[in-house]
Amino acid sequence: MVAKIIALNGSPKGSNGTTIQFVKYIQRKYPEREIRIFHIAQKLKYYENNMGAFQELIDEIQSSKGIIWAFPLYILHVHSNYKRFIELIWERGVENAFKGKYAITISTSIHFYDHMAHNYMQGIIDDLDMKYFGYYSPYMLDINDFEKRQNFIKFIDNFFDGINRKVPTPKKFTPLKYREFEYNPGENFKVIETKGKKILIVTDSVDEKTNIGKMVTAMKNCFSEAEIANIWDVNITGHCLGCLKSGYNNECHYLKVKGDNFIGFYKNKVMSADILIFAGAMKDRFFSSRWKLLFDRAFFNTHTPVLVGKQLGFIISGPLSQDMIFREFLESWTEFQEANLVGVITDEFGTSNEIDLLLQSFADKLIKFADSGYVNYTFRHEGGFKLFRDEIHANLRIVFRADHKYYKKYGLYDTLPNKVSLIWKAARGFLMLFLKMKKFRKKFYEMIPTSPPKRIWKKIEKQEPELALNK
Ligand SMILES: Cc1cc2nc3c(=O)[nH]c(=O)nc-3n(C[C@H](O)[C@H](O)[C@H](O)COP(=O)(O)O)c2cc1C
Repeated sequence: MVAKIIALNGSPKGSNGTTIQFVKYIQRKYPEREIRIFHIAQKLKYYENNMGAFQELIDEIQSSKGIIWAFPLYILHVHSNYKRFIELIWERGVENAFKGKYAITISTSIHFYDHMAHNYMQGIIDDLDMKYFGYYSPYMLDINDFEKRQNFIKFIDNFFDGINRKVPTPKKFTPLKYREFEYNPGENFKVIETKGKKILIVTDSVDEKTNIGKMVTAMKNCFSEAEIANIWDVNITGHCLGCLKSGYNNECHYLKVKGDNFIGFYKNKVMSADILIFAGAMKDRFFSSRWKLLFDRAFFNTHTPVLVGKQLGFIISGPLSQDMIFREFLESWTEFQEANLVGVITDEFGTSNEIDLLLQSFADKLIKFADSGYVNYTFRHEGGFKLFRDEIHANLRIVFRADHKYYKKYGLYDTLPNKVSLIWKAARGFLMLFLKMKKFRKKFYEMIPTSPPKRIWKKIEKQEPELALNK
């Protein structure tokens, strides 16, 4: 008998999504196989609120031989509803249904942090003690390309063959170990004067019985003035639908939904703060799905950074140092927003007193950097920015008109490789021509290692004469 396969669709668009077309393609290619699709992200509420339906789904998984985790990228990760489904697996104690099953991950995206979402999913798959058979991560339009579909089928063939032959698979992630520790903050926090800076601590827990609740309060007590926003108090009536309506002028579908106050909260509180501290306890290998909902719904700003130059830090309860994928998310999301990552404080090391001191110096650093306007970026920003710039410039500007306007207004297209000056184009051409000559080439490559420092210091000394060594 041919083994049954279950596909768990992580797109809020259900069967209309792009990702699931890859699964439908497998269905057509292998008509003899039973491949059943469940639209997890689209029907999350149904599975969450209807125990019978949830159990039927788990029974299907239990009686299958392989699982296809198929999902679109949503804000460097999986959609908040998919994340919620993953939480339900442990909350409802149904992990055993997944144990020992073969699994693959398939996503579609524009490749912005697709590796991170697959790594997160592999962590979950390893935690569930499944047999991970790899990832496939095409660009969102690749289903249209014959060659790419053939390549995809090579991956699927290998998966089915692995199931048939019961091939062993390696694990990548070790289970997370939480330490038994109760944080009890001291009384003597030195209050730092905020000098009119708006400080917002955004959290999904203010429960004083938890470490995260106590860390949030302690953090607030470090400042003369700071506000705590509990994201459970924000009326978020629904998940991001992936409808892309906000692409035109940042007007989200939920603007017209009565009672939904997420956009107001995000604009008036988050986007208007000078200093932001995001706090939460780890749930599996990430923030809670409530937190993910906030990241997803903030997509009404599409690919336009809206926290530019703000100071941002995180307080996390849980074994973050064992979960570098989550840490990477925190760092990458911050850089994507062009905010400055000031630090990440957790409760995983040290005594309560040591954590107090960390929070205290964290508060100090946040204020100092906000005063000086310090920012610092890496490849995460640079690489991400270039990807969006090229995508929006080439095609996506049709859908993402608001991004296009912003990129034009702030000269972001001026950094496109073909936008170099005519003088430099000519100089570059001449240099490349001369480099064909052996003698010139020898001199040129000898000069390269020594010439930049000389030029660099000449420029610095011109701009800051007081630093010149031979004044
Ligand atoms: C709200 C939202 C967030 C997205 N975030 C990302 C992202 O972080 N990285 C990426 O490469 N693509 C991202 N995308 C693009 C989608 O992953 C892509 O369009 C995908 O093919 C959609 O699949 P689906 O139709 O199955 O939902 C995002 C799209 C939406 C609507």
